[in-house]
Amino acid sequence: MTRLTLQEVTARFEARHARSLARRKELSAMIPGGYSRHPLTFGPHAIYVTGGQDAELYTLDGHSLVDFHNNFSATICGHNHPAIREALSAALAHGFSFANPMPQEAELARRLTARLPAAERVVFTASASEAAIAAVRIARANTGRNRIAKFEGGYHGVADDFMLSLHPFPELMPGPPDHPNAVPNSAGVPKHVRENVVVLPQNDLEACTRILRAEAHDVACVVLELQAGAGGVIVAERDFVSGLRELTRELGVLLIIDETITFRAGYRGMQGIYDVTPDLMILGKTIGGGMPVGAVAGRADLFALGEAGEVYHSGTHHGHPLAMAAGIACLDVLDEAAFARLNGMGQRIKQALNDWCLAEGYPFVIYGLGSHLGYEFCDRPGRQYRSCRDILCWSDEERMQAFALEMTNRGYFPMYRGQIALSLAMTGRQIDGFIGTAQAVIEELCG
Ligand SMILES: Cc1ncc(COP(=O)(O)O)c(C=O)c1O
Repeated sequence: MTRLTLQEVTARFEARHARSLARRKELSAMIPGGYSRHPLTFGPHAIYVTGGQDAELYTLDGHSLVDFHNNFSATICGHNHPAIREALSAALAHGFSFANPMPQEAELARRLTARLPAAERVVFTASASEAAIAAVRIARANTGRNRIAKFEGGYHGVADDFMLSLHPFPELMPGPPDHPNAVPNSAGVPKHVRENVVVLPQNDLEACTRILRAEAHDVACVVLELQAGAGGVIVAERDFVSGLRELTRELGVLLIIDETITFRAGYRGMQGIYDVTPDLMILGKTIGGGMPVGAVAGRADLFALGEAGEVYHSGTHHGHPLAMAAGIACLDVLDEAAFARLNGMGQRIKQALNDWCLAEGYPFVIYGLGSHLGYEFCDRPGRQYRSCRDILCWSDEERMQAFALEMTNRGYFPMYRGQIALSLAMTGRQIDGFIGTAQAVIEELCG
């Protein structure tokens, strides 16, 4: 068998998506690059769609794809879910933009505070990026400290404070693994931001303890994803998380867990699975059922300054009734059985592909918790990843790109770099189809 190359796969992708490319070129005259979100670029360019239904999306180029991307994990119920659509229609009938609170906000707050014991109070935003900004401001106000700490490989949205050390590429000079420097992931991040952010290594409690003990006097919070997403799927180890929880408590540093993606891991989020209580949490994606949303939630006492009007919180569309209505409908669909089904599908994919790759000797692994999984083409079968630096060290970028493009050529749409997110709309046939197609592509890329 001749090996599939990135060039061949890219050529096929370009031929199949010629209309998307033409649309991109046309729109670039108005929207730089043709769309407003950089990560939509999928190899050569984004795939424009006309819509989606259940687990499928329909491209401008006339293909239907099984959606294993799900808008970076946000559309957990799939597309156009009847309960969400009906909730949106019902909310629409009452008007949808007021400088007055509407009942939907209270209903979504009720559901979140009931599910998440650590969410004693909740405040909504229009995105998780804004929730992260709000969380950090609350932390600074309550501790009187200025700096924040985040992890290498951790993504918390687009605020300057967080546009650091997502991918510690060697050319950025990110420093030694156990003492990382803050390196910008975008031009335009001011120098003072880098000075105000302490960067921590993933899954290295000893190093985190050393760094935080030295810096804690001016560190307001540590922000952590229990399973990193955008920076590469890295699961935070349980001992590491419990050690960090103890350490932050001892040092008076607030622990902010970003559950924007990981909330989809279980009925009480990933914090429920890990049995860890954050001081504050950031939420987004899933809790809006596919509409623009974010929330910061946590310990009641930390919101007292906000209630007194001392910590400012606002946004024209915060608590938007349509987003709240979609979120309520989505959470009502997401009962324990729904998580069991989603996680069962994730387990089936992991087991089928990992067992097969080990047996055949293919250097491909797929891992992660629940229904948001990471995969890597690596140096040897069975490789384990404990940090984003491991990804830079062990992963084969050419094969990663070729896999994403070729899966799409064959009708399955993963995220471009090493991730899939499942939806409740997926059928057993679609899961089996993904597994079989992935095996064929892995074999053709590595055989
Ligand atoms: C963990 C995490 N936090 C925050 C964000 C920012 O969310 P938004 O795009 O809604 O601002 C994201 C987005 O992907 C995320 O994955």
